[in-house]
Amino acid sequence: MTASPKTPAANQMWGGRFASGPDAIMQAINASIGFDQRLYAQDIAGSRAHAAMLAATGILSNKDAEAIGEGLLTVLSEIEAGKFPFRTELEDIHMNVEARLKEIIGEPAGRLHTARSRNDQVALDFRLWVRDQCDAAITGIEALMRAFLAQAEAGADWVMPGFTHLQTAQPVTWGHHMLAYVEMLSRDRGRFADARKRMNECPLGAAALAGTSFPIDRQMTATALGFDRPTANSLDSVSDRDFALEFLAAASITAMHLSRFAEELVIWSSAQFRFVRLSDKWTTGSSIMPQKKNPDAAELLRAKLGRILGATVALFTIMKGLPLTYSKDMQEDKEQVFDAADTLMLGLAAMTGMVGDMTANRESLAAAAAAGFSTATDLADWLVRSLGLPFREAHHVTGTLVALAETKACDLSELSLHELQSGHPGINQEVYAVLGVENSVRSRISHGGTAPDGVRAQAARWRGILK
Ligand code: ARG
Repeated sequence: MTASPKTPAANQMWGGRFASGPDAIMQAINASIGFDQRLYAQDIAGSRAHAAMLAATGILSNKDAEAIGEGLLTVLSEIEAGKFPFRTELEDIHMNVEARLKEIIGEPAGRLHTARSRNDQVALDFRLWVRDQCDAAITGIEALMRAFLAQAEAGADWVMPGFTHLQTAQPVTWGHHMLAYVEMLSRDRGRFADARKRMNECPLGAAALAGTSFPIDRQMTATALGFDRPTANSLDSVSDRDFALEFLAAASITAMHLSRFAEELVIWSSAQFRFVRLSDKWTTGSSIMPQKKNPDAAELLRAKLGRILGATVALFTIMKGLPLTYSKDMQEDKEQVFDAADTLMLGLAAMTGMVGDMTANRESLAAAAAAGFSTATDLADWLVRSLGLPFREAHHVTGTLVALAETKACDLSELSLHELQSGHPGINQEVYAVLGVENSVRSRISHGGTAPDGVRAQAARWRGILK
């Protein structure tokens, strides 16, 4: 059978046993170069380490290895200069780089793939990329932690309402609320650090799936590429994408935290709350309502978890039920992780900017802190401490006094002593000390509590950690 002019030529990398090349639609569904070109730096670093090892073990001549190493640097500079001709018919970044290397250095290029397969190659490239993203996430998280910490230091003793059910619960301090996010973010940071540590084993040398008969030195390539050690099982090495899933899981939790603070910003910046003023840099106006200043960045951050969690679910679904070892399904891993990582980094940067620029409205915070009978628990605690009432009874007495204040449309601190004594005759003048919000927060001195002194101590601890 002779190939018709319309029959595409067989693939130059693996087309030996093929009479024709792939259908155009096959090429479209099969090619990953449109997205995996982002792995070029990792691919070239991996290939250079591989070539150096092949020379050191005598599998490749020094001359060939040098030509390969040099040629790969040329390819790298071409890509970085935007002059590299990416070709869909060469499927992916691995074959694009190798084909170009052949154009540049000729025959020795064909020796680079000795003792290697695209299966361990892609596992390596992707792992290196995700490892970099863990570092970037940690850096981004630390910047955001510093922004929250600066807010906490500025307002360690500013009172504001603490909420449960978004109902005023007890007065807390601004600094305490800001440090709550520092705690959340530090767990996020820890998750990326843990994932990075676990993924830091080198899959290169697993070859297609079974290892290789060439006398390779996997320790050498692992060390050259900054890994702690080579992976121990070649089958696992080419089929594992846990590192990407762990990255996505950590990213999802981080994005969930960003989403929660974003929601607080949306609420707090509203005219009804006025707890914070967002700077012009992070808000937009309305084309029809001149008074508006919309918290668009916060709203988008509230939503971004949708994409990141979507990517996480997608990759779980891709990996679910895949038999060992490599299957082409796994090529679908990259776009999900790329998009999630880009979204996370952008989100961290935007939130860092917003938190750094926002101005707390101390007066509104203080006024809101005193509203809603926020010191009712303090009154109940006082009844226990000063009059020896059982807490349940104190709770009940306080409830009747809250109801009284409600009917009078006043605050607990505005009830007369006579009115307070209608709840319990033992109540005396001293009770007024605990009905004020400042005293309330100052009294919460238990470890991790909202008292300004405790907040300052925690802020100082974080300052020491974050430098
Ligand atoms: N582009 C492929 C991927 O991303 C590279 C590995 C291809 N391996 C193979 N045996 N077809 O997964």
